[in-house]
Amino acid sequence: MKFFIDTANVDEIREANDMGILAGVTTNPSLIAKEGRDYKTVLKEITEIVDGAISGEVKATTTDADGMIKEGREIAAIHPNMVVKIPMTAEGLKAIRTLSSEGIKTNCTLIFTANQALLAARAGATYVSPFLGRLDDISEPGFRLIEEIATIFKNYDDIHAQIISASVRSPLHVEQCALAGADIATVPYKVIKQMIHHPLTDEGIVKFQNDYRAVFGD
Ligand code: E4P
Repeated sequence: MKFFIDTANVDEIREANDMGILAGVTTNPSLIAKEGRDYKTVLKEITEIVDGAISGEVKATTTDADGMIKEGREIAAIHPNMVVKIPMTAEGLKAIRTLSSEGIKTNCTLIFTANQALLAARAGATYVSPFLGRLDDISEPGFRLIEEIATIFKNYDDIHAQIISASVRSPLHVEQCALAGADIATVPYKVIKQMIHHPLTDEGIVKFQNDYRAVFGD
């Protein structure tokens, strides 16, 4: 399983990228709004930091296929690594079909059932994004959805869409995504940092430092 980072904060992206773990970035309208900066400027900056797939979503208020196609072309023109993120709706599927026929990569977002993932893959989506955490929030085990989609996609040789586990909220979620067969997990920076740490690792580092210092000094 590869890692994307789920943020529009360029400092967080730079930090994670420097660790050598990133294969891409996902943003969404909420994450972009949180930064309060010009959308295209932020996306352009991200393409200069990470050499991998960068998802930029069509405007949250654009709901018709023609509008999404127009914006999708503009997002794709920012950089060859751009992926156009489109919500799972009938209009969204039409936009995915057109954009993918033009060779533009797409990420179908807000997936909550295996059927939605299958529809998106058949429309030509490069990526499908099932939202694990938001299902857990309503007491439905999100990792089961990832398992179902992974099983269905493996059943058909002509499906090439990759599964991005989204709405990842904890290190446990990341393990569940990997076990369930996700191709990618898009992980917030906070969770990446949580994944790095273990109390015994941190304790071990302090013990090594103290033992070394006691004999050799700094
Ligand atoms: C997916 O690409 C979304 O940006 C994101 O993972 C949503 O996560 P949330 O449910 O924590 O908002």
